[in-house]
Amino acid sequence: MLPYEKYLGEVLIDEATLQKRIAELGRQISTDYADCDDLLLICILKGGIMFLVDLTRHITVPHEIDFLAVSSYGRGARSSSGHVRIDMDLTSEVQDRHVLLVEDIIDSGHTLRFVLDVLEARRPASLKLVTLLNKPRRREVYIPIDYVGFEIDDKFVFGYGLDLDEKFRNLPFIGVAKLDSSL
Ligand code: IMP
Ligand code: MG
Repeated sequence: MLPYEKYLGEVLIDEATLQKRIAELGRQISTDYADCDDLLLICILKGGIMFLVDLTRHITVPHEIDFLAVSSYGRGARSSSGHVRIDMDLTSEVQDRHVLLVEDIIDSGHTLRFVLDVLEARRPASLKLVTLLNKPRRREVYIPIDYVGFEIDDKFVFGYGLDLDEKFRNLPFIGVAKLDSSL
């Protein structure tokens, strides 16, 4: 038995399904930004890393990548609070650039609300959002989403960038955690 298997309830989205959808998103983004010569993808760490790496390879428009690490503090490890902070800021200027935020999952929306407010204050030319996963039933604050990979139910998932108590981000699929599966 592999180490992750005792925490895995079921595979929710397998590798082939993920990759097919990410290729579609890349094509859509490439079409939408066809006339843009100043696209900046901003990956929200750590969860967005796998998605960014695969998505960028399907975007045919020239673009830059940068990274923003944020964390929420307070409450349990599996639910976000309204308190979010920047752990590592961008190296790029955002002003007058076309920014596409790359996120792993939107749950309550608090993390994204904070990031959107921070970036809007830096006056980008445009600011859009692509998220691999969306849990609409969990939303507490409104977040406008431009591109979404998959809508999922209110279940805790891990793999493909998403962690189970910081582990198993390396799995190539999205799995649902067993309810009693704390590490
Ligand atoms: P929000 O602020 O509640 O929208 O939470 C967003 C962040 O919480 C995401 O960027 C993830 O890092 C984390 N998160 C939310 N749901 C899950 C999940 O099901 N598995 C792993 N991480 C999650
Ligand atoms: Mg995230």
